[in-house]
Amino acid sequence: LNYLVEKDRGYIIDTLTNGLKRLEYRGYDSAGLAIDGDNNDILIYRQVGKVKALEQLIKEDTQLDLTKTFLSHTGMAHTRWATHGQPSQRNSHPQRSDPNNEFLVVHNGIITNFKEIKTVLEKKGYQFESDTDTECIAKLTKYIYDSQKANKQLNFTNLIKAVVKELEGAFALIFKSTHFPNEVVAARRGSPLLVGVKTEKKLKVDFVDVEFGNGEAIPDESKMSANDVPKMHRSQSRAFLSEDGMPQPIEFFLASDPSAVIEHTKRVLYLEDDDIAHICEGELHIHRLRREDGMSSVRFIQTLELELAEIMKGQYDHFMQKEIFEQPESVVNTMRGRINFDTHKVTLGGLKAYLATIRRCRRIVFCACGTSYHSAIATRAIFEELTEIPVSVELASDFLDRRTPIFRDDVCVFISQSGETADTILALRYCLERGALCVGITNTVGSTISRETHCGVHINAGPEVGVASTKAYTSQYISLIMMAIQLSEDRISMTERRNAIIDGLHELPRHIKEVLKLDAQLQSLAKDVLFKEKSLLIMGRGYQHATCLEGALKIKEISYMHSEGILAGELKHGPLALIDENMPVIIIMTKDSYYPKVQSALQQVTARKGQPIVICNEGDTSLSKYRNIAVPQTVDCLQGLLTIIPLQLLSYHLAVFHGVDVDFPRNLAKSVTVE
Ligand code: G6P
Repeated sequence: LNYLVEKDRGYIIDTLTNGLKRLEYRGYDSAGLAIDGDNNDILIYRQVGKVKALEQLIKEDTQLDLTKTFLSHTGMAHTRWATHGQPSQRNSHPQRSDPNNEFLVVHNGIITNFKEIKTVLEKKGYQFESDTDTECIAKLTKYIYDSQKANKQLNFTNLIKAVVKELEGAFALIFKSTHFPNEVVAARRGSPLLVGVKTEKKLKVDFVDVEFGNGEAIPDESKMSANDVPKMHRSQSRAFLSEDGMPQPIEFFLASDPSAVIEHTKRVLYLEDDDIAHICEGELHIHRLRREDGMSSVRFIQTLELELAEIMKGQYDHFMQKEIFEQPESVVNTMRGRINFDTHKVTLGGLKAYLATIRRCRRIVFCACGTSYHSAIATRAIFEELTEIPVSVELASDFLDRRTPIFRDDVCVFISQSGETADTILALRYCLERGALCVGITNTVGSTISRETHCGVHINAGPEVGVASTKAYTSQYISLIMMAIQLSEDRISMTERRNAIIDGLHELPRHIKEVLKLDAQLQSLAKDVLFKEKSLLIMGRGYQHATCLEGALKIKEISYMHSEGILAGELKHGPLALIDENMPVIIIMTKDSYYPKVQSALQQVTARKGQPIVICNEGDTSLSKYRNIAVPQTVDCLQGLLTIIPLQLLSYHLAVFHGVDVDFPRNLAKSVTVE
């Protein structure tokens, strides 16, 4: 939405579709947008498939005058990942209230009481066009509008407040209406939503008014510059004045993810649950759904540190490939400023105030989904060894299904790259309700998990675009190890062990570079040996169990080949029946205390004519008779950081040979924001 600056329709469409493209990495099945027509009407375009298909659809509308200019204009766009109803044009967003497009809505999340709302509206004569839960929101808006339009107090904000009060579930919503041209209202509960602000002039003060303004003083300049972030105050004031007090050209961007707005502005304000944001005539007003006490009256506009270049592919063919090769740098970023390699000291600023509480807890629960869950499995043993606190590892969905008992003296650690995974967020809220101390390990500053946990660690791996997580895994792994080291710093008996791990972390970037040199070898392994296979077993034990699970997940996710990670100790309890001369098997056999046991698993495989491929340490000549992938040796608990990389590369090459859309595998999404 722009104000006081003329833009043509072509610019508006490009801005919307480019924003959608920046979000493509999250995964979606259809896309749509809405813009103003020529006669106080709204035009909707929706298409199944990629944003490019939507652009093509718009191009085919030869009636559309792309040169028409607007001084102020609200456009909205959306990519959908089906939850209710098949991917189809009519199920895409925006959803509308009626054939005249009086009210349009785009929605992320799920409305859990949509059936009840739909039944009521159908009884009142509303005819539904889609199978979505979202459509009931648009129709409910029209219903409330029609029944209250005689009321002079009814404005767009009050209307949407009344709508949102009826909704249950999770949502980030944006509304547009022919009754309120050039206005937009947004609301959120449970799904992320932010407002980006782009202005040419320096802002003097960024204010919002809230209808129950509590008369707080407007902050003075000095206070603001001390904090170096303009604040939003709950006081009656005109928003966004330039220094000379004059209205100024301004554009607002509403998005679920900063990467959609970053090319326009780095200044964003994250909306909170039950915020209703109203933008009109160059002003942003934030209202609360309900009057409440104890809610902070100050909001911050943050300046994002994300660079657009960081989210582009650069020299690589795919984001996933780029992210695998970025690991020598991303692991350094995770450790930067936190590990002093001379004094062997680890300091995680985000945990400092809570260390004593964590040390006193009776157990630690790691809770996550997908790859993040594997990082918890990878580090559980060293965590228990260093801290002597029992650690349990939970898949967030199962944890919730079981309604696991959680107590005030538990510490729960939520690991999530995106910080927006629905199951992990629900598990977090479950633990918060039960009074546990909640720690977040996320890659996304400002994400729901990083905001709602008591304390935590940002893994600082940089934006991860490929749906299959790679560099976030190694950074989560390191973050958890750093946490264990810091928690155990008062245990003298562990000093030597800690120092050895810290030395290993120091060497890690160099070791990762060595492993990345195996790329060509893994490419030929994919092409010459594994490409045509239907299935692949990956076996190991101890510290390498997580590598087996994570490697198999990577292969399934992006090459669509069946793969299973097997704990070698369980071989005799079933998987051995699968072994013959035709079943491809990878065995991870690095030099740690489990080596003799894995050796016996290897013998069991070869005794059944299996032809194992071995991931081992450099210089292990006893394994040279097998096809092997040799990685540098490091401290046992860090070895998994090096053994996972060949499997990341292998899965990548398998996917490329299979002609799969590596960064956007079918049916998967980067951020799974629904249960
Ligand atoms: C999805 C992604 C995975 C990711 C998992 C957990 O399944 O495709 O790559 O590991 O979600 O996501 P999170 O953002 O919570 O780490």
